[in-house]
Amino acid sequence: MGSQTFNIAALAGDGIGPEVMREAIKVLRAVEKKFSLRFDITEAPVGWAGIDAAGQALPDATLALCKKSDAILFGSVGSPERDPTIPKAERPERAALMRLRKEFELFANLRPVILWNELAHICPLTKERQGDGIDFLVVRELTGGMYFGQPKTSEDFGDGQRRAIDTMVYTTSEIERIAHVAFRAAEERLKSGVRRKGKVTSIDKANVLENGVLWREVVTNIGTQYPNVALEHMLVDNAAMQLVLKPTQFDVLLCENLFGDILSDEAAALIGSLGMVPSASLGAAKENRVFGLYEPAGGTAPDIAGKSVANPIAQILSAALMLLYSFNLYDAHHSIVEAVRNAIVAGQRTGDIFNPADPTARKIGTREMGDAIVAAL
Ligand code: IPM
Ligand code: MG
Repeated sequence: MGSQTFNIAALAGDGIGPEVMREAIKVLRAVEKKFSLRFDITEAPVGWAGIDAAGQALPDATLALCKKSDAILFGSVGSPERDPTIPKAERPERAALMRLRKEFELFANLRPVILWNELAHICPLTKERQGDGIDFLVVRELTGGMYFGQPKTSEDFGDGQRRAIDTMVYTTSEIERIAHVAFRAAEERLKSGVRRKGKVTSIDKANVLENGVLWREVVTNIGTQYPNVALEHMLVDNAAMQLVLKPTQFDVLLCENLFGDILSDEAAALIGSLGMVPSASLGAAKENRVFGLYEPAGGTAPDIAGKSVANPIAQILSAALMLLYSFNLYDAHHSIVEAVRNAIVAGQRTGDIFNPADPTARKIGTREMGDAIVAAL
């Protein structure tokens, strides 16, 4: 095991991407030493960095690198003020991120949302609503629905009227495979956590949408294969409300693509900062190996980019998820999560999670947080 080499494509991208990626790589290097592993990490440009370096948001060389890697560690892409300078289809969100998701058929996006006790102050909810702690997993379908459905067009009627069309479409098999991911995740969580509930809450809009009716039927069918996991259905508007009223009721939230995009940002707000939410985007397992793209749930944060104040934790936890899901390195994964936790327990805080009223907290920058986590490993 120790002699095995894991090939990682590290695509830092734009905005705070390079700063937080640097810290994640630092942590991976420390883990490599501690566990006698070998990570072959190759960095390549993506997003506007790709456009500037090679004229494409996903340069051919970057895509080629991803194809020969075991996993992709991704930063973030996009720069709204540069968008008007190029056609929509060439912009980083579509040409790099959505393209990678589709290219590698990364249909399952997992976003763990955990509020640690030490950070309870950054949760915008009252203490009572935080109950015994917020700890759930958003499982978002990532390659179907409104993002990719055809037709997807924009027409000009020439009389001052235009028409834009997006199509929300799901097939049985697309719903089945993401439902399996959610039920399996609920089973796994049940094994690992004391407070976990063994429950999947499936989100849809079955009262209005045809694809919602199908979603509900298919998820119900798949659920019968998982007798240890309870299944409930919830309409998406109600789910948006329940997340702020009683987030402790959730264990695994199963969502289609657009609903998952929206609800996962709302979920991140619950734990105070997008800088704390990692994500894994996974394809189908082949011979016990899963190819994945791992990225923070947050974006490029142009307002703080280059200032070395960004929180690197979401990027570091994304690297940890890579060790867990793509490399099956359970101990190494666990040790990163524990190190992050210990750095926080010790009072290390980037600005987004800093509370001046807490006498034990120390406000530090991006690099110092990376160093603190490495030191805690
Ligand atoms: C996310 C992001 C992306 C999405 C954008 C950047 C295209 O918001 O990963 O949640 O909508 O999926
Ligand atoms: Mg989003």
